[in-house]
Amino acid sequence: MQRLFTGLQPSGALHIGNYFGALKPAVEMCREYDGLVMIADYHALTSLKNPDALRRNILGVVKDYMAAGLDPAHTILFKQSDVPEHTELAWIFQCLVTVPFLELSHAYKDKVAKGLEANAGLFAYPMLMAADILLYDTDVVPVGEDQRQHLEYAREAAAKFNNAFGETFKEPKEKILKSIAVVPGIDGKKMSKSYGNTIPLFATKDEIAKLVMSIITDSKAESPVNVYSIHALFRTREELSTLYTENKGKYKVLKEALIDDIEALIAPMRAKRDAISDEDAKRIIKEGGEKARERASKKIADVRTKVGVSV
Ligand code: TYM
Repeated sequence: MQRLFTGLQPSGALHIGNYFGALKPAVEMCREYDGLVMIADYHALTSLKNPDALRRNILGVVKDYMAAGLDPAHTILFKQSDVPEHTELAWIFQCLVTVPFLELSHAYKDKVAKGLEANAGLFAYPMLMAADILLYDTDVVPVGEDQRQHLEYAREAAAKFNNAFGETFKEPKEKILKSIAVVPGIDGKKMSKSYGNTIPLFATKDEIAKLVMSIITDSKAESPVNVYSIHALFRTREELSTLYTENKGKYKVLKEALIDDIEALIAPMRAKRDAISDEDAKRIIKEGGEKARERASKKIADVRTKVGVSV
């Protein structure tokens, strides 16, 4: 069985764009692979300095994955900080790559341009991500387009280590989840927390209804494009074509139909999520962390021998 590895930062409540773009396809892929899903809490520390929020977000991510159908008996769900081998290997990679090489990172430049503090952790971010992936002899990494360069960094770190110390790491491939970029928000721009235009995945029905009713529509158009684009996540083109033709110009009816479709998807997931206690979530990641660590410790033992720190 091929190995899949993916991760996400625990940076707050998920929206339906995250669900259709990353969570759902990753959970589906996990069924076919020997999968590891990691909550990148040390990556989140590069920007989040609020311990209560971090704790809450970590448990939130566990519940989100469980609600979306991840089976922890089949897929290892764990958090980065429970496996210290990640930060250890990241250090070793940092000793192999140069500052100008890391300066090429788009993500670093974008984040600093957005006003994020240019801390050293943010700068070395790609080497921690390379360590995450390479520790487990990963074959495939499902991610959004914004992570493509990070995969190039991971392959480069593997090649640099293999050249310096002998064949050790497998070069992983990204599987770019294309649909992510096109999920629009309630204003028609890409759905993104930083634009404040999201429909949260686990909001109440009333909250969702209010947001859908506020989707910006063009009063001159026959069909409300922004409503349709979100609706297209829930129904086939044929179904929508009938619905939108029959209700030409009736924006309220179409929005109500979208609310019903969102609710039909979310209600069972919301119930599943509400049934998972914080204690359950903690137990799941603790067990996942133990399984991940068992694998990571074997790999790091080989690395320590190769670099010469094991005497
Ligand atoms: P993160 O937490 O930013 O996002 C998690 C996943 O969702 C995708 N994604 C998007 N892609 C395109 N457009 C969007 N608007 C959008 N929103 C979310 C991301 O591409 C990603 O797949 N560095 C990673 C976390 C990480 C990781 C790893 C991933 C750490 N170690 C190892 C894979 C393998 C990140 O910040 O993702």
